[in-house]
Amino acid sequence: MTLPDSIPFNTSVQESLHGLGPGALIEKEFGHDPDMLRTGLKQWGQGEPAPYVVGAFYFRGIRFRIDDRAYITDPEASYLVDTVAACAMRFQNEHGRPPRIAEFGTGAGTLSLSLKLGHPDFVLSGLDVDPAALEVARDNARMLNLDIDLFESDYFSGWGDRPRPDILFADPPWGSRTDLYGDERDAAYYDRMPARSAYPVEGGRIGLHLGILRHLKKLNWNCLVIMNLGVIPPQVFAELLPFFKDHSLYQPTPDIHILCGFLG
Ligand SMILES: C[S@@+](CC[C@H](N)C(=O)[O-])C[C@H]1O[C@@H](n2cnc3c(N)ncnc32)[C@H](O)[C@@H]1O
Repeated sequence: MTLPDSIPFNTSVQESLHGLGPGALIEKEFGHDPDMLRTGLKQWGQGEPAPYVVGAFYFRGIRFRIDDRAYITDPEASYLVDTVAACAMRFQNEHGRPPRIAEFGTGAGTLSLSLKLGHPDFVLSGLDVDPAALEVARDNARMLNLDIDLFESDYFSGWGDRPRPDILFADPPWGSRTDLYGDERDAAYYDRMPARSAYPVEGGRIGLHLGILRHLKKLNWNCLVIMNLGVIPPQVFAELLPFFKDHSLYQPTPDIHILCGFLG
């Protein structure tokens, strides 16, 4: 398939991306009970992320369950969902069948489940190294009544005899404690997330991206790869580009990049 020239990003305000800001989320979920509201606001004031306080968050208008077993999806990951949806629809038009899409590091399942809700034809699977996070993803799939294959895997070790995906996408752990989307979610916020979810444990700021590309090369999968680079600067992620024979970089905002391409 060919890569789109541009992606129709939904760049509207934070509100519509994530649903609600932290105070409003606690108010919405706990507002009916003054004691819960007071306790919730206190926990948030002490540094607990609001979605962990109330056990839920909103992403693209959908309510997901969450607790501290899984990473709280960044609102900016909505741009990755826009990119995967645009590429997958292009694939479907060009190939006459819905694509098989796999998500590396699915966490609470938010991104894959959002895609499946919007495009019931797409065949989705989500893998994660963290079995506790996958339990949250399975809860969300049950709650939303969606059928996606969720399985434990360190990189692709758990893939088994599943058919190869047409599209592999990921928002892997990236960056360091100073690579932040903005002031609202600081390093202390990300420190509350599961150990292997926010930052690469080895290999530097793009260690997981490099790991994924090396594994895919070894497996000889020639699927379309779509990876979020967050706010990693171009001079840092330049190391990834030689892996591709054909790639595009999409920028939903000037400092966010999404890399999309076929391996060489
Ligand atoms: C930044 S979080 C994103 C989670 C989810 N995609 C979301 O947007 O909410 C990265 C995820 O990658 C997973 N992960 C980290 N290292 C991994 C590995 N070696 N193999 C598979 N998954 C991994 C983490 O457990 C975590 O759930």
